[in-house]
Amino acid sequence: MKTIFTVKELREALKPVRSQTVGFVPTMGYLHEGHLSLVKRAKETADVVVMSIFVNPIQFSPNEDLSHYPRDLERDSLLASKAGVDFLFVPTVEEMYPAGSKTMVTVKEITESLCGASRPGHFDGVATVVTKLFNMVQPDYAFFGMKDAQQVAVIQQMTKDLNIPVEIIPCEIVREEDGLALSSRNVYLSEEERRQALVLSHSLQEAKAAFSRGEKDAAVLRRIIENTISETLLADIDYIEVRSYPALEEIQTLTGDVLIALAVRFGRTRLIDNIILTASQEEALCSVR
Ligand code: PAJ
Repeated sequence: MKTIFTVKELREALKPVRSQTVGFVPTMGYLHEGHLSLVKRAKETADVVVMSIFVNPIQFSPNEDLSHYPRDLERDSLLASKAGVDFLFVPTVEEMYPAGSKTMVTVKEITESLCGASRPGHFDGVATVVTKLFNMVQPDYAFFGMKDAQQVAVIQQMTKDLNIPVEIIPCEIVREEDGLALSSRNVYLSEEERRQALVLSHSLQEAKAAFSRGEKDAAVLRRIIENTISETLLADIDYIEVRSYPALEEIQTLTGDVLIALAVRFGRTRLIDNIILTASQEEALCSVR
């Protein structure tokens, strides 16, 4: 694996492999099995795999955890190399955002709800950095985890709107054995918070079970989750939302692909999780009639 720190070096390094397909996995580092599952998928799909590690300051609000965001480049390099990454791109903030940068990428509407509502400006930061990274790497495929389902919808919309020639490949959420979705932020949790954080995946499973029994009312499914999380002492609900996916429109009755997404705080740690349910159009029509 070759580690690269500048855009110029990256362009030079990728020149000889341009006749092959390039798969790209953007990350903010502190790698775990979730990130590595994206690399695995990239290796199955493309000839050459590029990973970036960049803690992107412009997607954090002033009151968020930028300065405390966990970092360990040595460990990350080892994990990336073992997973089969060919090029590890680790730009500095100055390399990504040279003084005088004036351009931002904004995706409208689908960035205004869910995480976009509780983290103003977050998706402008994500859309801008991912556009820049796409222009630097020029990948054929880019791999994103459904752990951040709204991020996937935003990136898909953005690449379509801006005619960026890359195929976005959404990848499944990787979880701990007990159900907690892997996240770089899980290291912040105390033992007790870690135990109680199971309520995220459990409450989503309860909603899924109700849906499987025939429940198609979005408000009812939402309330099932809310009731369960409210009973959890250390959990502070940021949002619980049931929306169409990937349009992220509010819905009353489940039809087509539906995202149930939630964000919950444990102390200062904000965790997210979600599930996609697919309701057949026919059943939804029946329940309306
Ligand atoms: P980061 O949080 O490091 O995540 C990098 C990628 O790993 C994202 O696509 C994310 O969805 C995926 N991922 C994280 N946890 C996962 C899990 N448990 N299962 C599957 N995939 C998982 O997302 C970002 O960084 C940034 O916003 C970025 C896209 C790099 C732009 O700065």
